[in-house]
Amino acid sequence: MCGIIGYSGRRPAVPIILDGLRRLEYRGYDSAGVVVCGAERLLGEKERGRLDNLVRLLALRPLAATTGVGHTRWATHGPPSKENSHPHYSQDETFAVVHNGIIENFHDLRRGLERRGVRFRSQTDTEVIVHLIAQGYEGDLLEAFRRALEQLRGAYAVLLVSSRHPDEILAARHGSPLIVGVGEGENFLASDVPAILPYTRRAIYLKENRVARVTPAGVEVYDLAATARGRGARTSDGDGAGDGAARAARLERSSTTRVVTIDLDIKAAEKEGFDHFMVKEIHEQPRAIEETMRGRVRGGEVVFDDFPLSPARLRKFNRVSIIACGTAWHAGLVAKFAIEEFARMSVDAVISSEFRYANLVLGRRDLVIAVSQSGETADTLAGVREARRLGATVVTICNVVGSSIPRESNAVLYTHAGPEVAVASTKAYTTQMALLLLFALRLARARGAAPRDRVAAVLEQMRALPGMVRETIGNDRTIRQIAAKYHKVYNYLFVGRRYNYPTAFEGALKLKEISYIHAEGYQAGELKHGPIALVDGSFPTVAICVRSPVYEKMLSNIQEIKARGGLVLAVASKSDRRVSRLVDWLVRVPDTDECLSPILAVIPLQLLAYHVSVRRGLDPDRPRNLAKSVTVE
Ligand code: M6R
Repeated sequence: MCGIIGYSGRRPAVPIILDGLRRLEYRGYDSAGVVVCGAERLLGEKERGRLDNLVRLLALRPLAATTGVGHTRWATHGPPSKENSHPHYSQDETFAVVHNGIIENFHDLRRGLERRGVRFRSQTDTEVIVHLIAQGYEGDLLEAFRRALEQLRGAYAVLLVSSRHPDEILAARHGSPLIVGVGEGENFLASDVPAILPYTRRAIYLKENRVARVTPAGVEVYDLAATARGRGARTSDGDGAGDGAARAARLERSSTTRVVTIDLDIKAAEKEGFDHFMVKEIHEQPRAIEETMRGRVRGGEVVFDDFPLSPARLRKFNRVSIIACGTAWHAGLVAKFAIEEFARMSVDAVISSEFRYANLVLGRRDLVIAVSQSGETADTLAGVREARRLGATVVTICNVVGSSIPRESNAVLYTHAGPEVAVASTKAYTTQMALLLLFALRLARARGAAPRDRVAAVLEQMRALPGMVRETIGNDRTIRQIAAKYHKVYNYLFVGRRYNYPTAFEGALKLKEISYIHAEGYQAGELKHGPIALVDGSFPTVAICVRSPVYEKMLSNIQEIKARGGLVLAVASKSDRRVSRLVDWLVRVPDTDECLSPILAVIPLQLLAYHVSVRRGLDPDRPRNLAKSVTVE
């Protein structure tokens, strides 16, 4: 999830690009770069770290031009470094691209290009794009662009500039957002609205598989499938910006390309119209899960490109310990069930601050999985160091490429959730669970512990996850009503079993951290051993009662609570007909395999915490006493 911007007009491009990047920094901030079309050649600068580093550099070495593109990066392939920063250039530096998304087949493309003598300068997936363009260029930039795009699998929003076509930017969208800002004698491109708002409120939301050609004089939009038939196959054309009324009239007639007026202010636009980052990030989950799975499921198997642990090595481990803090630990608890079920290995999921000071019995046959959104959590980092000192192998599940924990691990798998701004973790959690499940299946296959068809069946259901998550978010209205009714309650209990007792823990954590309401998460079987004493008519229990081997047991637990006059809010499967008869409020989630159900069941709990917090007049994005990343012990 990077930020990209393009400008083609009559004004100096760099200040506009930098201003746009500043407004897109929430999309990524590990490095930034710009390239402009100079009088004879492309001129660019890039720098690691926050945008300010690039701004300082450009103050010393200004770039003068009126067309250019910029990028602020959130690393997915290759750590944050100057070489991996965008833009990426062709060998002769006449073409440059910036990109947001993931190119799934970049390994194969890179190998092919290397065989043809191309020397790569970065570890990114993006660099293949610019080399493909350079190789396919025979004088027609649009055609070379099309040929390159045709070879890409994955997701992209990509901008291309060339010193041979100094007044134009080509842009394409497939799976990653891209908008065209329409001005007077100048036009813009951006991955998100806030970047263009100070300059124009007229925009084209580029649809899937569209290519745009942007110049100071106008905007032409092409259908990628149609351009494949040749340049004459333009489906809609100039918007009229600085290009005469005829073009505008033709654009208005187009059924597929519309100029719309944006009426958001900049602050609202950063949050894509949502009131807070937390709720925006909850809504981003379908896409975040899709990105996390992208390119990792092929032919009914899990494939991790560049993963250094071979199947033979994975077979040698006889025990797994998962270490993490807070929400990441809850993802680890879910993973414990998945690894035990599929890989048939014994798993411990331990809170990092306990792990680091435990009398650890670890050695060469131990696999330690560290889970961390930020990759900087001090206790988890210390646990990783200790595990490695004792000879264990450490695999990290992380969201921030190049952060400390991945750097100190033997292997890393990244969740591609994009930056998580809100302190309360939401999309990082669901993507951690999805990736840990993929890892469990990979481990299972390497060890011959799970039949191919069982793994393929789970992966098939995982494909449907983004849609099911979207459907679950659709319960927002009901959850708002629940929040309206129960936001003044002082205590909550959350209960679940097996794969979903961690969901109960997570629901309780979400509520307490952003609503300051006391909440406890319990394994439902533990109720009778103490917590049921708390239950009375004013005390809500949130019960996770989805289809699973312990469904009947959960029903009994709910009945026990009801028998004591308790109030029950349940999360149940869509096909369920029994829970609804027992409980006070019900939120339904799509039916799925038990191992995937925590990814769906937590969403109503995230929304509940969010709406309760808002109802209580709090700021869910910045809860008191908490920091996003806990880098001290
Ligand atoms: O960056 P990490 O995943 O290592 O952070 C771990 C916890 O600090 C984090 O999950 C915390 O519990 C969140 N605020 C929960 O929403």
